[in-house]
Amino acid sequence: MKHQTIPLFALPLTRTDIDCGGIAEFFDTVVKPSKGRSNTDGTTVYETPLIHYHNDQNVFEIYDELKDLGDRILDASNFVYRDVMNHDMELRFTNAWFNECGVGGRQFMHNHCNSVLSGTLYLRADENSHIQFQTPYGMNDFGNLLLDEANTKRPNRFGYSHHFSIVTYKVEPGACIFWPSHLRHGYSENRTPGRLTLSFNFLPATFNCVYKV
Ligand SMILES: [Fe+2]
Repeated sequence: MKHQTIPLFALPLTRTDIDCGGIAEFFDTVVKPSKGRSNTDGTTVYETPLIHYHNDQNVFEIYDELKDLGDRILDASNFVYRDVMNHDMELRFTNAWFNECGVGGRQFMHNHCNSVLSGTLYLRADENSHIQFQTPYGMNDFGNLLLDEANTKRPNRFGYSHHFSIVTYKVEPGACIFWPSHLRHGYSENRTPGRLTLSFNFLPATFNCVYKV
C-alpha cells in the first residue's frame, strides 16, 4: 500500500570522525601506567575486564598532550548540540575519561547524570566493536504489543526499525558519537582485544534566562 511513515520524536545519535592518531599509544605509555586507575577518593578500583581511568575527572585538563584533541571534540559537541539539536547555548566538558575493556568484558546498560550530551571516541576497535542503545520508552511498552523477540531485532519489510527495543551500532577507530545523556547504553560481550574508548559528558554554561551553572 502506498504510504508514508515518519519517526515521531526521534532522538539523534550523531557520528563524526576525529583524527585520534597516537592517542591509544599515549594511553598505553602514559595514562595506563600512571595512578589514573585509582579513584580520587582513595577507594579501590575493582579488577574486571572493564577498567575506567579518570572517570570522575577531565583528562583534557590533566594531560597537556590531549588538549588539542579535547578542543576538537568540544567543537564537534557544539556542532551536535547547536546545529543538529538546535540549542543556543555553548557546551563545556564536565568530565572526560578513558575506558579499556578486555575480551569477555561488558558494560551494563546505564545513562549519565549531570550532563545533557554524552559522547565516546573509539580509539581501539575492530569489526566486532559496537555500542547498544535501549529504547527510552521502556522495555515493557513494546513487549506487551510485540511479543516475538525476533521481531524486535529486525527491520520490517519496509526497512523500518522504529519498533526496536535495543539498537546495536557498529563502530570503527576514529568514530566519535554523541547522544542525549539520558539514553541508556552499554555493550554485550566484548570481542575486541583491548577495546579502548575516550568518553565525555557536557553541560551548557547557562540553561536559559533563569537557570545558570
Ligand atoms: Fe556510558
